Amino acid sequence: MNLTYLSHSCFLFETSSHTLIIDPFLTDNPLAQAKPADIRCDFVLVTHGHFDHVGDAVEIARRNDATVISSYEVADWLAREGVKTHPMGLGGGFAFPFGRVKLTIAFHSAGYPPAKEDKQSGFIYVGAAAGMLIQADGKTLYHAGDTALTLEMQLLGKRNKIDLAMLPIGDNFTMGPDDAVTAAEFLKPALTLPMHYNTFGYIKQDPAAFVSALATKGLKGRAPAIGETITI
Ligand code: NI
Ligand code: MN
Repeated sequence: MNLTYLSHSCFLFETSSHTLIIDPFLTDNPLAQAKPADIRCDFVLVTHGHFDHVGDAVEIARRNDATVISSYEVADWLAREGVKTHPMGLGGGFAFPFGRVKLTIAFHSAGYPPAKEDKQSGFIYVGAAAGMLIQADGKTLYHAGDTALTLEMQLLGKRNKIDLAMLPIGDNFTMGPDDAVTAAEFLKPALTLPMHYNTFGYIKQDPAAFVSALATKGLKGRAPAIGETITI
């Protein structure tokens, strides 16, 4: 399987049969080089309803007639925009044509402010935030979404032989590098990639320092450049 890092928490996965994109935040993302119109895919995975994860999901799904896979609430919201969706809930898995996706626990939030013209007060909440365990082509991938460090990751590591983990290291909104190293110790992946860093001022981090910190624990890490493809 080929994986291309498109910046922030966005990756493109090319399996032997299908192409998937996760958390396609490209427009309004100062680090992204790819444009929504460049993306060819069959499925769009969205971990939670924050703007930096939903991103261009609707435009990409429309252009490709792709199915959005997300929480029940995000799926229902995006279905109203006229795209095909597949709703899921935390702890639930489903066998898709490319492989299996299971929504995992993420300690985070999900919502967005109403449009000004709606004159609505408060926030619009869109379900629980999640991570995703993706099994395809005999490989197991874990995309943590946005989350704090959680002991749930110990269970994921015990029950799955994870080939690749994508972990947020930005701090401030999610776990930072120290907690992400502990997460990798819980998950025991063959390879760990950092994500969700350097996109905004609040989340400046040194990915090389994170990879070195993983090495001190005997764990393999790699920080792909934006646009770089890794084969696992
Ligand atoms: Ni978030
Ligand atoms: Mn985020």
